[in-house]
Amino acid sequence: MIMETEKFIYEKSMPTDRGLAKYIEMFDLDIEDCKDKLVLDIGAGTARFQEEAKEEGIRVISLDPVYKFDFSQEQVRKDFYTRAKKLGFGDFIDEDVLKEKVGDVVARLDIGQNPDKQRDKVAGINEALPFKNETFDFVLNAYSSFLYLEKNYSDPSEAVSRGVLMLEQIHNVLKPDGEARISIPDLPIPSNLIRRVSDAYIDKYPDARIRVLFGKKYNYLRLKK
Ligand SMILES: C[S@@+](CC[C@H](N)C(=O)[O-])C[C@H]1O[C@@H](n2cnc3c(N)ncnc32)[C@H](O)[C@@H]1O
Repeated sequence: MIMETEKFIYEKSMPTDRGLAKYIEMFDLDIEDCKDKLVLDIGAGTARFQEEAKEEGIRVISLDPVYKFDFSQEQVRKDFYTRAKKLGFGDFIDEDVLKEKVGDVVARLDIGQNPDKQRDKVAGINEALPFKNETFDFVLNAYSSFLYLEKNYSDPSEAVSRGVLMLEQIHNVLKPDGEARISIPDLPIPSNLIRRVSDAYIDKYPDARIRVLFGKKYNYLRLKK
């Protein structure tokens, strides 16, 4: 299913740069356990997790709508910078530092320069995953969906149904023994969205294997096939 990804990029989101160590912490990942698995990182931002996981021998496909843009184009870089400013990224830091930070992110995103990177970075959105059913052993989604859903859909029930759609999409691409972990960020999450989405999912699929798990440091929502 191909959708016009640009229209569906969460408006108040920016591609951030969390790496392997942070993902291990957020999702209680066991690196050894991941080594023979194919992992999908949804809303992967600069795909730093993928780069670092690769060094450990883990295969990761990164998905993010921003991979659609050609960051070698000056206008795309400018728009990106304006967006970072609008989101308040420059409020507490010097203008030059902001430029440098945005420059770093853009450099990481510039997959056009590197065809090798392009292959395992896919432009797309969580509500319409462009993969065959039963492709991935593991699906991760960090600081992405739940942070933005309510900010993007003013009708709360719309936010919930979009969340359910995302879970359905994830369920489809999981292999029979697969598992997804969706981060519950340490940032204010609007109302009790996660609970409402998982309740609505269970209403629709009473046999769903979904629950909130309390990790060592972070909590996450786990969906098993
Ligand atoms: C805060 S960043 C998180 C990046 C990375 N996972 C991390 O933890 O550093 C949120 C990401 O979600 C992406 N995003 C925005 N809309 C999306 C959508 N509809 N589906 C999937 N990802 C989306 C943004 O482009 C951005 O890269």
